[in-house]
Amino acid sequence: EDEHTHLPDMQGKRIVITAGPTQEAIDPVRYMSNKSSGKMGYAIASAAAKAGADVVLISGPVSLQTPVNVTRVDVVSAQDMHKAALVEANTADIFIACAAVADYRPESVAQNKIKKTSDELTLTFVKNPDILKDVAALPTAPFTVGFAAESQNVEEYARKKLAAKKLNMIAANDITAEGLGFNSDNNALHVFWPEGDKQLPAASKRELAAALIGLIATHYNENN
Ligand code: CTP
Ligand code: CA
Repeated sequence: EDEHTHLPDMQGKRIVITAGPTQEAIDPVRYMSNKSSGKMGYAIASAAAKAGADVVLISGPVSLQTPVNVTRVDVVSAQDMHKAALVEANTADIFIACAAVADYRPESVAQNKIKKTSDELTLTFVKNPDILKDVAALPTAPFTVGFAAESQNVEEYARKKLAAKKLNMIAANDITAEGLGFNSDNNALHVFWPEGDKQLPAASKRELAAALIGLIATHYNENN
């Protein structure tokens, strides 16, 4: 089934990918999280490994098998993912942030299970570090690729994130598109870089991942 998938030669390149959701503990039995199956990030890791790259996949909790020839680092919280990503990104040529990172975490984790003694529960959340932004700001930053899941003004918001986080590329998907994205095996992406853009129309996440790795390789080679 891979016969029709064209992949660039990425031998000798170190690619670090974040994937899946993060979980932010509330108490010993509860957490706050994001909707993410991890399928897109895992498909990208698989395509990158097939292209010959050395791939490190920093993964939040998902129920997916580790792709062949991929080194997987399991993390739970955004802070753990941030720590692992900054270590791995130091020696990376390319960094791809596919994870659905929780933007906020509870200010404190309750030591004991919270009991339902009151009719309302108010929790205070504090902002998590921005993993992608911090990687792009490293003194020897890798070629950095972000994702943007948007429900409106896709191009405007994606271009804003590209500029604000100083990324080389951003892959946007419209989360309102029917039958695509979350939990689905299919997706469509609109990829933006400072001087251009390309639509990758609806396809399997495996095919899209291969197309995205192709685009990344082309632009990485232009920049290096
Ligand atoms: N990201 C990250 N660390 C975070 C938040 C986001 O690395 N703490 C990455 C995601 O993996 C994705 C990109 O940043 O590649 C954009 O994430 P998104 O949630 O679309 O954007 P935010 O910058 O978090 O802004 P907002 O949620 O307000 O749209
Ligand atoms: Ca976010």
